[in-house]
Amino acid sequence: MSYYKIAILPGDGIGPEVIKEAVLILEEVAKHFHHTFEMKYGLIGGVAVDKTGTPLPTETVELCKNSDAILLGAVGGPKWDQELSHRRPEAGLLGIRKTLNLYANLRPVTLFDALLHTSPLKSENVIGTDVLIVRELTGGIYFGTPRERKNGENGQEAIDTLRYSEKEIERILRQGFQIAQGRKKKLTSVDKANVLESSRLWREVADRLSYDYPDVKLEHMLVDNVAMQLIRNPRQFDVIVTENMFGDILSDEASMLTGSLGMLPSASLSDTGPGLYEPIHGSAPDIAGKDKANPLATILSVAMLLRHSLRLENEADSIENAVKKTLEAGYRTGDIGFDWERVLTTTQMGTMVRSYLKSPV
Ligand code: NAI
Ligand code: MG
Repeated sequence: MSYYKIAILPGDGIGPEVIKEAVLILEEVAKHFHHTFEMKYGLIGGVAVDKTGTPLPTETVELCKNSDAILLGAVGGPKWDQELSHRRPEAGLLGIRKTLNLYANLRPVTLFDALLHTSPLKSENVIGTDVLIVRELTGGIYFGTPRERKNGENGQEAIDTLRYSEKEIERILRQGFQIAQGRKKKLTSVDKANVLESSRLWREVADRLSYDYPDVKLEHMLVDNVAMQLIRNPRQFDVIVTENMFGDILSDEASMLTGSLGMLPSASLSDTGPGLYEPIHGSAPDIAGKDKANPLATILSVAMLLRHSLRLENEADSIENAVKKTLEAGYRTGDIGFDWERVLTTTQMGTMVRSYLKSPV
């Protein structure tokens, strides 16, 4: 019997809907494996702006710091699109990542066999897809300064800055190498070194570090080529390590290998302190409030939380297994079952996964 504190940040749009199912899964795991998960809710994103005037209230930061792990839904939506940049919901998400130094974002792209024919790509191309994208999460163009608007000679000018220090590059690359050591020992470092200076530094650091990991085969690939290769032959990849924005874009692309954006979980980790777990998708305003969202990405994020932050391997396996069984039994939400006769709601999908958790076959 063990006791853990988990911060729950539902956020906006479909966030609260998928989080509700994920929390029920956590409660089921607690019952089954005799743990106590103390779950406390915090505000982040648009809902926090509405209630407190800021997308990341101090209480939320404190709650997260005092927890063993954090589970987050998604933030954002058209309602807040006109807000000033520091009051945008996304500033809350970037803020918590930065404050907790969650620089390593792990995004496993794994195709469940039952969804082989769900991907819009040919099944012979996607079969066996098992890629781990390691995305740098607290640097690069999402954080660099100057970031501003000003009046220039030709009307307004907007400036974003892509900046990386050697230290930031080194720590994320080490994560990539170490994770590759525990997998197929192949690391693809993705950059745009033919154009960007930050990428040239990235490549130099990767080459230097590769001497520390002689068992890992390091390759460099330009990001535009990776975008193409992921579709052409995803099986060539084991671990992909890349900077913040490239990782953001490539992982949305890679999600289609698995059938839907609604399938991909993620873990954001620092060297010390709690990890943050969230689906890679956003708040999906187009389907929010309709009980239509696929909760599996968030449920699979719970599995990552149990494995990485709480070291509860069996419990994590049991969730992944329940998701697998649910899909094998033919249950689908709309995003992965567009040609299905009877599509499940978010709530029904969560209930199905729980039923397989209760009675593992
Ligand atoms: P999105 O990821 O919210 O949605 C893209 C498309 O995928 C939509 O058609 C949506 O319906 C669908 N989709 C996403 N998750 C789904 C799920 N679980 N089940 C079924 N379908 C799903 O990205 P979009 O539309 O570009 O952004 C919407 C808002 O979300 C924006 O405000 C954006 O800033 C925010 N966002 C937040 C993120 C986060 O909180 N981590 C990440 C990405 C976007
Ligand atoms: Mg994204």
